[in-house]
Amino acid sequence: MTARTKLRLRGRIDPPGDKSIGHRLAFLAAISRGRSRLEAFPPGRDCASTLELIRTLGVQVNEEGSSVTIIGRGLGGLVAPHSDLDAGNSGSTARMATGLLAGQSFDSRIVGDSSLSRRPFDRVVNPLTEMGGVFETTDGRLPLRILGGHPLHGISYTLPVPSAQVKTAVLFAGLFASGRTTVRESTLSRNHTEIGLAGFGIPVVVANGTVSIEGGRDPIGNEFRLPGDFSSAAFFVGAAASLPGSDLVVRGVGLNPTRTGLLRALRAMDADVEWEPAPSPGGEPMGTIRVRGRELHGFSLDPSEIPTLIDEIPILAVVAAFAEGPTRLEGLGELRVKESDRLYAIQQGLRALGVRIEPLESGIVIHGGPGELRPARLRSYGDHRMVMAWAIASLGVGGDCEIDHLDQVKISYPGFWETLDRLLC
Ligand code: S3P
Repeated sequence: MTARTKLRLRGRIDPPGDKSIGHRLAFLAAISRGRSRLEAFPPGRDCASTLELIRTLGVQVNEEGSSVTIIGRGLGGLVAPHSDLDAGNSGSTARMATGLLAGQSFDSRIVGDSSLSRRPFDRVVNPLTEMGGVFETTDGRLPLRILGGHPLHGISYTLPVPSAQVKTAVLFAGLFASGRTTVRESTLSRNHTEIGLAGFGIPVVVANGTVSIEGGRDPIGNEFRLPGDFSSAAFFVGAAASLPGSDLVVRGVGLNPTRTGLLRALRAMDADVEWEPAPSPGGEPMGTIRVRGRELHGFSLDPSEIPTLIDEIPILAVVAAFAEGPTRLEGLGELRVKESDRLYAIQQGLRALGVRIEPLESGIVIHGGPGELRPARLRSYGDHRMVMAWAIASLGVGGDCEIDHLDQVKISYPGFWETLDRLLC
């Protein structure tokens, strides 16, 4: 027996504010002149780490429900911290803060939890060193000391790995640098920083795979309403697409094409999914997704799409396990350095569920189909996105899987379990 028709999702969701955009806007608000108001600020722990970090740098932050008001201190106004800056589990917090702190007159030190302390920081330290910054890492990892009093100059930098966090760190440092800073990338990664900078009045030139800004100009505080987080909605979208009888509407969600590779992948798997992006006042495309469940089939992912669904590979792998035929996912090296080694976690979990997989050098072929799938113990390695992906896998086998670290959903989607309960029928 397979349980694919036993459980399905029906209803509407309004996902929480976008975490990726939340970090950027909070950091930019901190170094702006004047007051910024961020509506629908993400409720998860990661963005709370960013707010706490800017508070430690002397920035006034007021939270009221889901809106956050930040009184900016301007480019020259951050104050020396009296303690370490704790980024918790959040790579975005730590890497973007490194860009912001490289050009300060004071020293600072960034620390993180055990997962973050295993992740690479050379990728931000290298370009920022080229700009004149001085750092001490712990074997390329956290804790990271940033030595103050070293003025920065603009550089032209080609990203060796597609990483929006590195692009953002270099552009943030570029705000404090003399002259022009240019970042070139071979595949466009999420462009929330470019859109966010423009929202704070910083002229941004985007041309031929590059983004450039001039340093020395204060961002100006502004008001923003954040779109819903596509990466949070993705778990329910993936579930609804692959559980026949499901019918889900996602409202107010970010539909920036640099983030929505999962929707294109689902289409290629023959999913019944529609979406309509419309420009929002803040410049981020947003809109509604409608998805209905039906039988899906495997496909080969074009590696150039990976930056547009980098955080959705865990749920895509689960969808592929329930789709008929092979799905080929290649070019997944970056997954090894996320909150966990996701490539390993995915392979272990899918095998436990009875899915036949073929490991590739930096990828995986998933031989999907409901066939012999069975409930299993699924390890999340403390990674919020693995917990949510396994929760959806569990639905596909009748809801009987045992998953560890359930509470980690609080990193990005504190309401995940309640939303899942409400949609299940
Ligand atoms: C993010 C970029 C991606 C992504 C992360 C958030 C961002 O990381 O995986 O969850 O907000 O810029 P990389 O820059 O390491 O690819």
